[in-house]
Amino acid sequence: MINRQPSPPTPLPQAGEGSKPAVGSRLAALVALIALAQTSQAADLTAGRDIFTTRCASCHQVGPSARGAFGPQLNAIIGRKAGGTDDYRYSDAMKTSTVVWTDDTLRAFLQSPAKVVPGTKMRFWGMSNARQLDDLLAYLRTLQ
Ligand code: HEC
Repeated sequence: MINRQPSPPTPLPQAGEGSKPAVGSRLAALVALIALAQTSQAADLTAGRDIFTTRCASCHQVGPSARGAFGPQLNAIIGRKAGGTDDYRYSDAMKTSTVVWTDDTLRAFLQSPAKVVPGTKMRFWGMSNARQLDDLLAYLRTLQ
């Protein structure tokens, strides 16, 4: 976010009880930090959806009108057999894979796609952050 105001630094209001200081950018940054710190608890669906939007949605669709695009649609992915949709042209590797997508196989696949399905055409650097994987999987579970 760009702060376009060329105004001189205004003194931060004292955060006294009952006072309602205008939300300055420093305060906003602090709020963002606190929000980040709070994500270290239960899986966070909003965070999971954001991860999906930024890291998966360029290739995968979900939701009522989802269809195969650059990658297969990912509705009801948990419990689905690898290569299991019928409107997408999978790699031979994915088509012949015997993997069933569960929490564990998805986690492993997202950390390193080619380790779980050698020869897959999903080009993805991999996600190793356990927290992000938890959130993402929690979000995918809402699409069953
Ligand atoms: C650059 C594009 C791209 C991105 C980004 C991407 N994928 Fe994929 N994904 C693919 C392609 C292509 C395939 C099909 C692979 C094949 O046929 O070998 C695939 C396959 C899959 C499959 C197997 C689906 C099935 O029907 O068996 C899963 C699960 C999956 N991706 C999850 C994800 C998730 C979750 C993310 C985000 C963290 C993601 N992918 C990011 C391109 C991508």
